[in-house]
Formats: sequence, structure tokens, C-alpha cells
Amino acid sequence: LGLKKEVNVLCLGLDNSGKTTIINHLKPTNAQAQDIVPTIGFSIEKFKTSSLSFTVFDMSGQGRYRNLWEHYYKEGQAIIFVIDSADKLRMVVAKEELDTLLNHPDIKHRRIPILFFANKMDVRDSLSSVKVSQLLCLENIKDKPWHICATNALKGEGLQEGVDWLQDQIK
Ligand code: GTP
Ligand code: MG
Repeated sequence: LGLKKEVNVLCLGLDNSGKTTIINHLKPTNAQAQDIVPTIGFSIEKFKTSSLSFTVFDMSGQGRYRNLWEHYYKEGQAIIFVIDSADKLRMVVAKEELDTLLNHPDIKHRRIPILFFANKMDVRDSLSSVKVSQLLCLENIKDKPWHICATNALKGEGLQEGVDWLQDQIK
């Protein structure tokens, strides 16, 4: 009867990585925002796939708001972690935030799927998804299903592959 399973997703990653742009692209055209501005605190968004109805907690990645993330970990059933592949200087900061996330008591012992978007692949000299994966040491994540996709959120490239993977993990 068109009833889809409801799933809460946390969208995390540093400020300016492209989280809101990605989520905006996944929403139905008539619900998409024209202008994307830096997120203040967080914003709750919705989008659907063939079998799932996602409620996304689109968190601000700014340093002063990152302490909000952990309050939503318990409710999250999946994580989308976005990396700016062109921001080489802050890759180490992204890794720190990822490691803090993975070691949090509300995440650590759960088999929660994590979808990584190595975003901004259109930027000249941006890092490949393989390189991002190496720098973040993703191969060390052994107790959770994870997947990484190279994306260009401005054009929506790579997003569908990731969302298909996420849907397969949950359904
Ligand atoms: P916070 O809300 O501050 O945490 O940032 P955010 O992760 O939500 O980033 P946001 O979606 O606001 O995008 C930040 C900037 O990056 C905007 O100017 C976007 O247009 C731009 N941007 C997002 N994705 C891409 C991409 O794939 N390629 C390029 N070139 N720019 C992108
Ligand atoms: Mg945002």
C-alpha cells in the first residue's frame, strides 16, 4: 500500500563538505532548495527510495556545532559521512571526527551501515575515493558495513550508487 520502512539517517562530516547539497539532491525536485547556506545546528530532511522512507538529520559540520552530533547517535540507523576530497589540509580533521564517532559508546558496538561520500570529485586535484579511503583508514572498520563513492553533489553524480548500497544494507 505504498508504506515504506522508516529509517533515520545521520548526515555527518566537516563544514563545507557538501552534506546539505547532497541531501538536497536526493529530495524530490519540488522540495529542493535553490540556495544552500551553511547549516546552523541541524536540519531535518526527508527523501524516499523505492522501499525506504529516510529521515535525515543534516548536521552542521562547523566546529562549534559538532558537539550536537552525539545527541542523535542513538536514533541513527545509518550514517552518511561526507568528505571534501579537495580539502587535503583538513583530511586529518575529518579522520579525527570519524574516529571519535566510531569510538562513541552509542556507535561503537552497533552494526550500523556507514556510507562515505568522497565529494567534490569535480574539483581539480581532488583526491580519489581510494586515496580518501586510505587517509581515513577505512579498512580498519571491521564491525560495520561501509562503502565509499566518489561524488559530485553539484551534478548529483555518484549519489544514486551510494543510496542503492544503503538501501540494500537496511531493507
Ligand atoms: P555545513 O552545513 O556548514 O556543515 O556544510 P555542508 O557540508 O552542508 O556543505 P554545503 O552543502 O553547504 O556545501 C558547501 C559548499 O560546497 C557550497 O558552496 C556547495 O555548492 C559546494 N559543493 C558541494 N558539493 C560540491 C561538489 O561536489 N563540487 C563542488 N565543486 N562544490 C560542491
Ligand atoms: Mg549543511
